Amino acid sequence: MSRRPLVAGNWKMFKTRAEASAWCAELRAGLADADGVDLAVCPPATALATVADALAGSGVGVWGQNVHQAESGAFTGELSTAMLLEAGATGSLLGHSERRALFNEHDDLLAEKVVACLAAGLAPVLCIGELEYARDAGSTETILDEQLRKGLALATPAQIAGVTIAYEPVWAIGTGRTATPEMAQEAHAFIRGVLHDLAGEAADDIRILYGGSVKPENAAELMAEPDVDGALVGGASLEAPSLLAIAAATRP
Ligand code: 13P
Repeated sequence: MSRRPLVAGNWKMFKTRAEASAWCAELRAGLADADGVDLAVCPPATALATVADALAGSGVGVWGQNVHQAESGAFTGELSTAMLLEAGATGSLLGHSERRALFNEHDDLLAEKVVACLAAGLAPVLCIGELEYARDAGSTETILDEQLRKGLALATPAQIAGVTIAYEPVWAIGTGRTATPEMAQEAHAFIRGVLHDLAGEAADDIRILYGGSVKPENAAELMAEPDVDGALVGGASLEAPSLLAIAAATRP
């Protein structure tokens, strides 16, 4: 088992192209801090090409925040896998909790998006996580099990090996209330168990990222857990030094 840590920044609907360029320059200047850690950033679609150009040759991944499952068509406001790839993206988030809650994305749709990405050569990063009431009701594992099995339902075991999972408990996103390291490890171990069931031994190589109020101050203790393979960072990724500090804390 040799999972290299992966730290990704999700900018959500923040940063113009000019702001994105400045961020990339700062990140490049500090990349030595992230030695041994894979990095990725999810800019808004308008800044994808700018960021991909600015980070070319750096090894930093550039991901979309969402992508449509169809190759093309009358889908106003949507972007295809080919469009993301052409802009320089190497992967895409799928099913972020904000997409699920605000844009009605559901597991069956995400299953189509997962295989569309795999077919196009765009690395899918499937986001899952329970709402606060589900955790309080003791149904976290039921929710995670359902989100994983449905979201990966159209992918073969070999394809599932090419997926990254982001566990983001919804109550921890943007709230400053992060999961404790024990809670994160418990959820990640459960997720890996389901992945074993779906993909066999390959599950040991699948990276499971934790997201939800990850900051430089709390990253080290979360990332020290054996099944936490990195972080998906929202607010704290908006400043490049802060994302680099999280990456440094993640280093094995
Ligand atoms: P915060 O780090 O701001 O809580 O956001 C997490 C997230 O949604 C990353 O995708």
